[in-house]
Amino acid sequence: MAVMPSSPGSFKQSWLERCRQCSRCGLSAERQHVVISRGDPSAKVMVIGEAPGASEDIQGLPFVGRSGQLLDQLLRTVGFNPDSDLFICNVVKCRPPNNRKPSSAELRACRPWIEEQLAHVDPLVVVLVGATAVAAMLKRKQAMRSLRGVWIEQAGRLWMPVFHPAYLLRNPSREPGKPMAMTLEDLRQVRLRLCQCEPASGALFPCPPPP
Ligand code: URA
Repeated sequence: MAVMPSSPGSFKQSWLERCRQCSRCGLSAERQHVVISRGDPSAKVMVIGEAPGASEDIQGLPFVGRSGQLLDQLLRTVGFNPDSDLFICNVVKCRPPNNRKPSSAELRACRPWIEEQLAHVDPLVVVLVGATAVAAMLKRKQAMRSLRGVWIEQAGRLWMPVFHPAYLLRNPSREPGKPMAMTLEDLRQVRLRLCQCEPASGALFPCPPPP
């Protein structure tokens, strides 16, 4: 893994430059943009998804297509502002053709970028969006039905796996007990956890309204 320059400013500039020029795997040949992140790099919550899709590749920003719009809507419902409360990125930074799952070689090649983002942002909580992100970050390969909604303490951090919004788009019912309602519960847990983390100056977030 590359050594991080010490000042945040120089880290940001040189790191972004290197990341934008990455050619560590074949995905670099087809991409329009390296999709790095959106949101606040000093956020207490980091959201990590799988890989950019077509809209993300065009705009150069993660989670801006249909899945991203749903994810933002769910995050806002529990009281997060995706622009200022979160740092959003993916385990793979370039779009796999036809939105296929990234291969293990692509995940391996991209790994240093997400490791460096994680170290730089140093969030209190990481939300892992979908099975690929959980497997890549935590080496856990169970079904999302058993992983979602359960806090994982690993590698000195707190992780919350949630269903991928692409899955929720295919299962759009908002009835209690359905994946959409479960995801809202899981994101509410994240929100609650943050208002329980009280630094000297007071709670990090006001408590969420009851559902
Ligand atoms: N799906 C993801 O996992 N990430 C994105 O950025 C968009 C769709």
